[in-house]
Amino acid sequence: MTNFPKNRLRRLRQIHELNIINTETILSIEDLIAPIFVRPGKNTSTPIKSMPGIYQFSIDSLCEEIENLKTLGIKAILLFGTLSEKDSTGSNASNHNGLIQTAIRAIKQNVSDIAIITDVCLCSYTTSGHCGIIDAKNFINNDDTIKILGEIALSHAEAGAHVVAPSAMMDGQVGAIRSQLDDNNFHQTCIMSYSAKYASSFYGPFREASSSTPQFGNRESYQLNIANKREAFREIDADIKEGADIVMVKPALAFLDIINKSHDLFNTPLAAFNVSGEYSMVHAAAQQGWIDKNKIILEILTSIKRSGANLIITWHAKEIAEFIQTNN
Ligand code: PBG
Ligand code: ZN
Repeated sequence: MTNFPKNRLRRLRQIHELNIINTETILSIEDLIAPIFVRPGKNTSTPIKSMPGIYQFSIDSLCEEIENLKTLGIKAILLFGTLSEKDSTGSNASNHNGLIQTAIRAIKQNVSDIAIITDVCLCSYTTSGHCGIIDAKNFINNDDTIKILGEIALSHAEAGAHVVAPSAMMDGQVGAIRSQLDDNNFHQTCIMSYSAKYASSFYGPFREASSSTPQFGNRESYQLNIANKREAFREIDADIKEGADIVMVKPALAFLDIINKSHDLFNTPLAAFNVSGEYSMVHAAAQQGWIDKNKIILEILTSIKRSGANLIITWHAKEIAEFIQTNN
């Protein structure tokens, strides 16, 4: 036995005023990235039924929403396009005058000091609802897809995105995007890669909101098997070698072990995505009066940070920033 005073640990916990120096993980609003759905149209925001409190914003109302987020202390947003015009190659995704490209330019013009991150994928733009283009046998054509992802990323960079975030889980997507950006002199544009994205059932509400449910099959041929751990580290390692500036684990809660070990294994900034299904479960229970919503959200986000994430993408960003601001 050491000669530590006997009740040392408990004593620290009991003195309320000391709680702050006895707290290893402090969640702050700056850790959070707010994902946002963008829709065509003017002056409209459409509520998402399965995600209470979340809306698809037309570009003008999007700019107002970002001002609100900024007032709350949020420093970064992640944009997702929701579009009903789709085709086999998702050609609207890389359209220079497309929805996201126009949204980025509008934000740059109307809002200052917000980091603009954009989702780079095909599933909201393809008739198949898959993240890649499909050949005659319904197989994903990986290599043609990564060329298209490079074009989408370039169109976002040209419009002014600070960070592009490929989420298609195609092999070589980070390298393809990095070389497209560099070849066109966008050396400054960062890549946040959805490196370890699992074939999870927690994306359900998001797919409803962005009408990106696969029309046949599933995403298991390109997203990770939920039973695997070491494969996640191979994916992250490959993305870092291809030039990713930030790597990501997704979803967050059922994959805290992956976040934790990734933080130990790699020196690249690590993001975690607290996804739509995780959000909706909290709101469903809160609506029933079964849980204390804000306390649960703080506990969830703190656990994600404690496990090792440097950045947390979360649909709770706005509501929890409001809560933190009014309770400090
Ligand atoms: C699509 C994409 C998905 C999410 C982000 N980008 C869904 C999917 O892969 O089916 C999920 C986000 C969420 O559920 O919050 N590439
Ligand atoms: Zn996708």
